[in-house]
Amino acid sequence: MSKKNNDNKEMFDSISKEYDFINNLITFGAHNKWKKKIVSISKKTNPKKILDLATGTSDIAIELSSIKNCKIIGVDPSSKMLEVGQKKINNLNLNENILLEQGDAEKLKYNNEIFDVVTIGYGVRNFTNLKNSLKEIYRVLKKDGLLIILETSLPSNPLVRLIYNIHTKLYVRIVGKIFSNNPNAYGYLESSAKTFPYGEDFIKILREIKFKDIRSEIKLFGASTIYVAKK
Ligand SMILES: C[S@@+](CC[C@H](N)C(=O)[O-])C[C@H]1O[C@@H](n2cnc3c(N)ncnc32)[C@H](O)[C@@H]1O
Repeated sequence: MSKKNNDNKEMFDSISKEYDFINNLITFGAHNKWKKKIVSISKKTNPKKILDLATGTSDIAIELSSIKNCKIIGVDPSSKMLEVGQKKINNLNLNENILLEQGDAEKLKYNNEIFDVVTIGYGVRNFTNLKNSLKEIYRVLKKDGLLIILETSLPSNPLVRLIYNIHTKLYVRIVGKIFSNNPNAYGYLESSAKTFPYGEDFIKILREIKFKDIRSEIKLFGASTIYVAKK
């Protein structure tokens, strides 16, 4: 594992216990609604096998388990995030539907063309090598399979962007300082959201990897975006 990947893993390990609680505080619970949207898009393809990459504490994998006759594999490098996710899966009795495995987007252990859908919630901006990871996802997706990504973006309206900046620079950092084991992690999450490509720039990268029929839906005036792309 590269040093950057290891630092990333350690960072997510360190915030795993309070991650769900802080995520709800930061987004005022809105992320749950957007994760449900990922499920409704997935459902339309009648999938049998879904990979939830960067699954973290498994929120999206758990939502996806409402799809009938579908197996979900959740993958994440952070063993501590997975531990929290596994507890939730055990409590909900979802072990038949969801399997969690430790792994990295850059090197997936799965055969070519086995997943109908790959979902990623707030994960891609943490990938050390974004293009290699997207190539791996392309490889494991079946022909016409869907990649669905929920990621932070920046609002284009100047007034909304000002409110967004105050929210992320002040509120997110204060919440991180009060409630997190590792407040620096929330500084990183805020700054990575500012520098990560979004909108047309991100769509261009997906096209380079050869994804097609790409569409995007902005959420909360552009604070997050859902991208849907086909292999
Ligand atoms: C912000 S959390 C998102 C978790 C969850 N998907 C959600 O929406 O709440 C980002 C996750 O990406 C994972 N991650 C970081 N680098 C990764 C990589 N190279 N491959 C796969 N997952 C990665 C982290 O361990 C972390 O659990």
